[in-house]
Amino acid sequence: MDAKNTAKSAALAVGDKKLDLPVKPGTIGPSVVDIGKLYGQTGMFTYDPGFTSTASCDSKITYIDGDEGVLLYRGYPIEQIAESGDYLETCYLLLYGELPTAAQKADFDFRVNRHTMVHEQMHRFFQGFRRDAHPMAVMVGSVGALSAFYHDSTDISDPTQRMIASIRMIAKMPTLAAMAFKYSIGQPFIYPRNDLDLSSNFLRMCFAVPAEEYKVNPVLSRAMDRIFILHADHEQNASTSTVRLAGSSGANPFACIAAGIACLWGPAHGGANEAALKMLTEIGSVDKIPEFVRRAKDKNDPFRLMGFGHRVYKNYDPRAKIMQKTCHEVLNELGIKDDPLLDVAIELEKVALQDEYFIEKKLYPNIDFYSGITLKAMGFPTTMFTVLFALARTVGWIAQWKEMIEDPGQKIGRPRQLYTGAPRRDYLPISRRK
Ligand code: SDX
Repeated sequence: MDAKNTAKSAALAVGDKKLDLPVKPGTIGPSVVDIGKLYGQTGMFTYDPGFTSTASCDSKITYIDGDEGVLLYRGYPIEQIAESGDYLETCYLLLYGELPTAAQKADFDFRVNRHTMVHEQMHRFFQGFRRDAHPMAVMVGSVGALSAFYHDSTDISDPTQRMIASIRMIAKMPTLAAMAFKYSIGQPFIYPRNDLDLSSNFLRMCFAVPAEEYKVNPVLSRAMDRIFILHADHEQNASTSTVRLAGSSGANPFACIAAGIACLWGPAHGGANEAALKMLTEIGSVDKIPEFVRRAKDKNDPFRLMGFGHRVYKNYDPRAKIMQKTCHEVLNELGIKDDPLLDVAIELEKVALQDEYFIEKKLYPNIDFYSGITLKAMGFPTTMFTVLFALARTVGWIAQWKEMIEDPGQKIGRPRQLYTGAPRRDYLPISRRK
């Protein structure tokens, strides 16, 4: 990308009309051309399916520089937060915009901890699902159902209710995710414990059984917490845009988050971590890599290297580097010396990064490339990988939803279209149709 364009306005000639469109600069990153009045002045829409050049909002939460491989949460580099912070501190930062003082952190942790249990009726709600349902299907259903249980925090015009709903979502997602896992393996639900931090609580709810004591491994708990930090927010990605659009109609936050979970499930988005591990398993061994790289480059073959490429990053995803380091930490802690999938991943990354197709198209590993190997080693089945992504991204969705709702200029999102269907024509009685 060329150096930042510093133009103060954008001239646009539409037929014999000459428009001078205002340009709005950001704190950092690309400026935007404000086309809000374009239709009124020209009778034309802009056209940008996939929104490759379109900003849907202004936001203060997360900044990505795809060319430089930079990711900032409220201005702080992801590398520093992942190294020194914890997930609940990151939640506070994303929600409130500043790092918490020790007192603010203690209060926030206490408030979240006190909302980790779900309504006991949710246990019966789960009984309606098949045991072999995909945990993401269970999450879409159960998170959407929260609005049937927590009527006292669905009035989005009330800032107190908005914050209670935010805390409830952050606190209950680990519990619901663990319940979806336990339900799928036929084990009893494990209740949260208030004396544990969020990630330790989550690992215990997933892997403890009533028949014996469960000791949380601090290395795995730290790794889990860091994985949650890496997935917490990522500006206007597909699922966050879904949450914003759902929220723009005034829908309650639980319903909006359920919509975000549904969107995240797709293999081109949050489902890529599950797909990436399946792909590494399908490749199976290092000698099979050339065949799969050839297929990924073949326009006529729908196969894509899962965990590779990104709409915004045209450089290494900074999260992928931290994910790779975490992967090695977890495998070392678990004494997994030679994981064949890791060997395939490391060799595949090396081959792809030296291949002119990937270099020319600027395709690098993204966050999903190493997460699957790490989560599998921690004991999660592939069907739980996107659930963990959804758990972590909930704070990003909520923070972006809150920012939109609290924007005084907020209005319902309603894109237009280029109509390419049939021109007006009269109804034909069935007797006269051929
Ligand atoms: C996430 O948006 C976010 O921020 C998402 C996310 C977040 O935190 O919310 O970062 C999480 O979703 C990460 C991405 C996970 N998805 C995958 O790993 C699935 C595999 N990746 C691809 O499906 C793809 O790279 C996308 C969907 C991620 C991006 O697709 P784009 O926007 O179409 O990518 P592009 O325009 O940069 O593609 C450029 C070219 C295209 O070929 P041409 O049309 O130019 O000929 O590269 C090709 C693509 O077909 N390409 C790939 C490829 N990814 C893109 N070719 C082979 N293998 C790939 N993985």
